[in-house]
Amino acid sequence: MIYIYGSGGHARVVADAALACGLEIAGFFDDDPARWGSFVMEAPVLSPQGIEPGDFVAAIGSGGVRQKVASRLLGAGWRLRSLIHPRGCVSPRARLEAGVFVAAMAVVGPDAQVGEGAIVNHGAVVDHDCDVGAYAHVAPNATLGGGARLGVRAMAGAGSVLLPQVSLGDDALLGAGAVATRDLAAGMKAAGAPARPLPERSGKA
Ligand SMILES: CC(C)(COP(=O)(O)OP(=O)(O)OC[C@H]1O[C@@H](n2cnc3c(N)ncnc32)[C@H](O)[C@@H]1OP(=O)(O)O)[C@@H](O)C(=O)NCCC(=O)NCCS
Repeated sequence: MIYIYGSGGHARVVADAALACGLEIAGFFDDDPARWGSFVMEAPVLSPQGIEPGDFVAAIGSGGVRQKVASRLLGAGWRLRSLIHPRGCVSPRARLEAGVFVAAMAVVGPDAQVGEGAIVNHGAVVDHDCDVGAYAHVAPNATLGGGARLGVRAMAGAGSVLLPQVSLGDDALLGAGAVATRDLAAGMKAAGAPARPLPERSGKA
């Protein structure tokens, strides 16, 4: 039995995977009291307050928010659980830390490392020897070539490509469909093929 923190689109993707793994969803946590008492996929939306700590998956798209939520619950005695969709493909030689989510049709290759709370989303490829930082996000259909690196909370947008050995720094964001041919510094945002830095603005993750 698990709890899912979040009740939006990504939370439903995680719930699908949990059900496919044969797990029972005890409920979805949401910080918005207006959502308490409603239902998502037949499970109740709840406040985490006052519930006996158990297993949870942090299912919020933003890496920064996901990290805050996870550290809050870990501090309160909850256990951060990893979830791999039965149709995800993870090499037995890959190393996954706690709280990693691997969605359907995603691939994690041999000797890749995926940090705490990271997301490898639908159809994404994390090839051999990659290093995905804690709370990073490899969005749907993104591909990290062999030995590529994503920093902490960094995101490779939907359908983007990091050429082999290329790094995105912590909190960097590679736009949807972009091709990173060179390293991107921490906090930078880039788009296009080849990827070029975008001026600093709000960012849609
Ligand atoms: C790159 C990105 C972060 C830019 O967001 P932003 O800072 O809000 O930028 P804007 O939408 O204001 O766009 C700024 C400019 O960049 C262009 N642009 C935006 N995203 C782009 C992309 N992915 N590729 C190429 N150009 C892009 C816009 O057309 C705009 O160009 P203009 O100034 O000539 O009109 C965002 O568009 C993106 O791709 N996010 C990834 C989303 C994603 O994959 N989510 C996965 C969810 S599971």
